[in-house]
Formats: sequence, structure tokens, C-alpha cells
Amino acid sequence: MKNLNNGSIKLAIQKNGRLTESTLGLLKSAGLEFENYKKQLFSSCWNFPLNIVYLRDDDIPDYVASGAVDLGIVGENIIIEQRNDVTMQLKLGFGYCSLCLAVPKESPITSSSELNNKKIATSYPQSTKRYLNEKGIEGEIVKINGSVEIAPSLAMADAVIDLVSSGSTLALNDLRVIEKIFDSQAVLIKSNTVSKVKNNIVKKLLIRISGVLAAQNYKYVMMNAPESILKTIQKIVPGLKSPTVSSLSTKGWISIQTVIKEDVFWETIEKLKEVGATGILVLPVEKLIL
Ligand code: PRP
Ligand code: ZN
Repeated sequence: MKNLNNGSIKLAIQKNGRLTESTLGLLKSAGLEFENYKKQLFSSCWNFPLNIVYLRDDDIPDYVASGAVDLGIVGENIIIEQRNDVTMQLKLGFGYCSLCLAVPKESPITSSSELNNKKIATSYPQSTKRYLNEKGIEGEIVKINGSVEIAPSLAMADAVIDLVSSGSTLALNDLRVIEKIFDSQAVLIKSNTVSKVKNNIVKKLLIRISGVLAAQNYKYVMMNAPESILKTIQKIVPGLKSPTVSSLSTKGWISIQTVIKEDVFWETIEKLKEVGATGILVLPVEKLIL
């Protein structure tokens, strides 16, 4: 058996599921190199002191809380359900989903207030209990570990509380959402028992991952413009600090390089065109270290 206690830090990720592919993609974008086979229990990075451990997502928070692994990537939904003693470090911007209350399409139930004395199937009993308590509803919780959406058609429940991402699982099972309980996305969690030495490695990994996440929010933009409108352009694109300006061979013209935030990208480009910028070239940012 390989020894994983070799001074490297350990990161637990979902073995096989909704988050697996995006998680591996994020780690690769952060420059981590490792082999990953479907049947493997862990991978060692060869260019960073990190072991990646593949676990069932529901087990990840416990492994992190106990210190068996230093970090974990998991849906917020599981942390909200289990309330483990871990620290949330980063929201990762993928694995978006919501915990929802749903009923069969033909059900007369239209709101949670009609759930008194009804059976609710869920793999999220704690979140369901808190939700019912908040609403002052006396429902019966039927705990099911998987395929919750099948429970109403087997007459095991009147409603379900389950994760909805694309909504296709619900649609396939003739269920409709009547209320949303909370939103969730993938997060990076850290153990509260990480040693000082390992914490230094953790910090380095967090800088790498944050760099990838920050880059996703920006586009690198190059454009040509008459020198006379430089001040106007600077107002439109404040950039991170200030844009890079160089002169062009055509007299009175300059080339400007800067970054634009993704969420205001199109309105910014429109404004730039309006004031007279031309030849606007947009490139993705691979990493951004702030
Ligand atoms: C959730 C949920 C549904 C599915 C919904 O399971 O239990 O089965 O995702 O996704 P959709 O709206 O895109 O169809 P999850 O992937 O978390 O698996 P797990 O409960 O087995 O961990
Ligand atoms: Zn799961």
C-alpha cells in the first residue's frame, strides 16, 4: 500500500459525479499535473506536494473535519446539511444547483403550507427538518439515500426535497418544483487541524486556484484609438490599475491594453466603440494573480 503521509497535503474530491469533471478541470488549470484513472483511489501530483483522494462526496466533509485530509472540494449543499466543523475557503463557480421542494405534476399541493401530515422523501433530512420547523409544518420525513425522485411514483411520499441542477431528473420523473430552499455551488473547504508546515503548502495551492478563478472573471483587451480620447477610454476601462499604452506608427494613434470584467464586458465594448476605439481584440486570461 502506498503511504500518503509523506509531507504532501491531501485534497479530497468527488470520485464520480456531478462535480468530478469540473473539479479535475480546475486543478489542471491551476497547473497541477497528475494522472487520473477512473478506478484509482488517489493521485499524486508530480509538480506540487499534493495527493488527490477520490471519495464519495457525502463523506468528504467528515474526512476534512477529522483532519484525515487537509482540503476538500464539495457542494455547499452537503456542508449545509451536515454542518461539519470545517472552514470554507473559496466558492468555485461551478456545480450550481438548488435544494428544492417538488411534488408530482398532478398533485394538488401548490405550496409548502400544504405539507402538514404529508410524507416528504429526501436525502437531506437535516435541511428538510430545519425548513419544516422554520415554516411551522408537521411533515413526515422519509430518508432515502439515492433516487429520491422515484419515491412519489412508488407511493412512498407526497413530495420530495432534492437537489435540482438542470432540472432534467425532475422532469423525467414528472415532478414540478414548488419552492426553492437554498442555492449551492462547489466550494473548497479546509480542515481546522492543518499543521503549520502543511498550511504553507495549502496557502500556495489557494493562490493558484484563486488565480484561475480570478482570471475567469476577466478578459484581456487590446484596441487602437486616437491619442486624444485616451482619458475618455481610461474612464470607461479603469483596468486593474492603469492600462498599458504604446504609440502606433500612424501619427496621433495609440494602442491600449487592459482587462475588462466579464460581467460588464459587452456594455464596456459598446462604449469603447462609441467613443472611437477600433480594432478591438479580446483574449481570455489564463491566470490572474492579484
Ligand atoms: C442530484 C440529485 C438529482 C440530480 C439532479 O444528485 O439527487 O439526482 O443531481 O440533477 P439535474 O437537475 O441536473 O437532473 P447528485 O449529483 O448530487 O448525486 P448524489 O446525490 O448521488 O451525490
Ligand atoms: Zn452524494
